[in-house]
Amino acid sequence: MADLSTTVAGVHLDNVFFNASGVWCQHEEELKALLESGSGSLITKSATFEHREGNPSPRYLPLPGGVGSINSMGLPNEGYEYYLNYAKQFDYTQAKPLFISLSGLSLADNVKMVTAFVEADLPCILEVNFSCPNVPGKPQLGYDIDAMDAALATLAPLIKKPFGIKLPPYFDIAHFDQVAAVVNKYDNLAYVTCINSVGNGLAIDLDTETALIKPKDGFGGLGGLMVLQTALANVNAFYRRLPNKQVIGVGGVVSGKEAFLHILAGASAVQIGTQLKEEGPAMFDRIKKELQEIMEKKGYKSVNDFRGKVKTL
Ligand code: DOR
Repeated sequence: MADLSTTVAGVHLDNVFFNASGVWCQHEEELKALLESGSGSLITKSATFEHREGNPSPRYLPLPGGVGSINSMGLPNEGYEYYLNYAKQFDYTQAKPLFISLSGLSLADNVKMVTAFVEADLPCILEVNFSCPNVPGKPQLGYDIDAMDAALATLAPLIKKPFGIKLPPYFDIAHFDQVAAVVNKYDNLAYVTCINSVGNGLAIDLDTETALIKPKDGFGGLGGLMVLQTALANVNAFYRRLPNKQVIGVGGVVSGKEAFLHILAGASAVQIGTQLKEEGPAMFDRIKKELQEIMEKKGYKSVNDFRGKVKTL
C-alpha cells in the first residue's frame, strides 16, 4: 500500500489530506466528523475576535456542470474563544494534528487572538488567513504585500513556533516573486497554503437573469475544479521560491488525480473544500484510495517520491 504520510510544520500526518478551512469546520459536530473521517488532519473555520453571523443567504452554491462553487460566506464563525476552548480540550494523543485558522479583521485583532493562543501554550498549529475575499469593506491583505509584510513582522515573533499563512491566488510572476521575498524573511513562517478561493467571480442564472448568491451584488469566491490550474500554478510558484518552507495545496481537488497533481507541483499536504462540502467527509477514504491507485500504477511508494517533480518542456 503506497504511503500517503507527510510532515507539515514539523508535525506528522498519517495522510496528506485535510479540509480546507471554512468547509465542514465551524462547529464541534463537524470537527468531530473530520476526526472520525479518513483525513490526515483537520483545520478550524477562520476565527475572528467576535462571533460573526456572516453574510445573508444564499451565500454558497455549487455551480452547474460540476465546475465548482461560488461562496460569499463572510466569515461566519463562533469567535476565537470557541476555537481556543476546542483546542484546549483537544486530545493531542490521537493521530491527527490540529490546525487553527485565524482571520482577524484588523492586525490588532490578530495580535489579541495570537497572544491568547500563545499564552495557552497548545501543540496546535496556527494558520493566519490573509485572503478572505468576502467581508464587505475589508480588502484581502494578501494583495497588499507591504501590509502583509508589516502584519508578519508583528505576528511571527509573537507566535515564535512554526506557523502558516493562507494566501490568495496570484496571477503575475512579479507578485509570486514579491510575496516569496516577504515569506522568506520570517524563519518560523513554516508554510503557505495556496490558494484561497478566486475572489469576486459573478455567477448568473440564464433563465432568471439573476445573480446566484445574495451578498455583494452576487460577487463571491470561486472554488472547485475550475480553479485547479490556478491552484497548481500557485503551489508550484511558491514551491520553487520557498526552498526552506512548505506549501499546502488547495483548489480543484475532486479525486485522487488532482491530489496527485498538487503533490507533483510541490504540495506537502492537500486540503479539500468544495468537494468536501458536496460529498461529506466519507470523501477522504475515496480520494486516498484513488491517490494510492495512481501511485501504485506509477511505481511510487511514498509522496516524497514525486513531490515537486513536475517536468517542464
Ligand atoms: O472563500 C472564502 N470564504 N475564503 C475565506 O477565507 C473565507 C470564506 C468566507 O467565510 O467567506
